[in-house]
Amino acid sequence: MIEAQQLTKRYGEKTAVDGLDFDVKPGTVTGFLGPNGAGKSTTMRMIVGLDAPTSGSVIVNGRHYARHQAPLQEVGALLEAKSIHPGRSAYNHLLALALTHGIPRRRVDEVIELAGLGTVARKRAGAFSLGMGQRLGIAAALLGDPQTVMLDEPVNGLDPEGVLWIRNLLKALADEGRTVFVSSHLMSEMALVADHLIIVGRGRLLADTTVADLVREAGGDTVQVAAQDPARLREVLAGPGVAITGRSGSEELQVTGLSAREIGLKAAEHGIALFELTARTVSLEEAFMNLTRDAVEYHGSTTVETLETVGSNA
Ligand SMILES: Nc1ncnc2c1ncn2[C@@H]1O[C@H](COP(=O)(O)OP(=O)(O)OP(=O)(O)O)[C@@H](O)[C@H]1O
Ligand SMILES: [Mg+2]
Repeated sequence: MIEAQQLTKRYGEKTAVDGLDFDVKPGTVTGFLGPNGAGKSTTMRMIVGLDAPTSGSVIVNGRHYARHQAPLQEVGALLEAKSIHPGRSAYNHLLALALTHGIPRRRVDEVIELAGLGTVARKRAGAFSLGMGQRLGIAAALLGDPQTVMLDEPVNGLDPEGVLWIRNLLKALADEGRTVFVSSHLMSEMALVADHLIIVGRGRLLADTTVADLVREAGGDTVQVAAQDPARLREVLAGPGVAITGRSGSEELQVTGLSAREIGLKAAEHGIALFELTARTVSLEEAFMNLTRDAVEYHGSTTVETLETVGSNA
């Protein structure tokens, strides 16, 4: 369990984290989402005491991280995967960490196996690829068999097999009743692994919600229908919670509040011919963009005008 209360971090004039209140609960994967610079890494650093809050507080498993007797066994964190002595082997890196906490060698072998590092464990960590470094960082996070696991952008640099591995790993950890907190700026990736979402923009909380609720709030599921007699179809579909739109004179209708199956059955019942019946789920990426549009700090400059301005300055 992670509990943040009015958590705030300022760097001079810049407020990186701005009065965040949230809980991350055990037994589910919680995604921590936000555009670049939203304050995700800063929040995660404060959770493990690498940065001190300017005001507010955050506690893990009931107390401040630094107050835990054996922090590695409480919270496993991946923040900067490549914070490893480059000349040390993966095995020795993990063994050194284990020795600081009285963790047996056998556990080092276990996490090496778990992270799929068996064949490279004796090689210098400095020569590791980005993906290998990421796996080593995850192995280190799991070393103490912690109740709470926190990973900052864990899929960065992983190949498709690695991405799938992370997804299954996070779900398995949550199923064991652990608290799993994972950041990403990719909604599509989070949608596949997280049940709960905490979304931030410019350091502020934008949403604390489930994936299902986010879709519903963003407009829910719409079904696109084309019918021979759209006016008649409107009549037979009308009811509480059902919304139907469509241009007059057009065969096409957009229906929310009924499934494609329900619409198909109603149409058949009343002998109305359908030409199209397509369920259109609002993309989560769209929902995320809508939420964070005003909170994006680093927009790509795509307009011709901007390019011309840059050109004339050069
Ligand atoms: N040590 C620091 N000194 C000054 N400013 C900082 C420092 N660390 C972070 N910031 C600023 O705080 C803001 C939040 O940064 P943070 O790294 O937490 O964002 P993020 O959500 O992790 O972004 P990304 O998706 O790019 O990783 C940014 O504007 C960043 O420039
Ligand atoms: Mg970050």
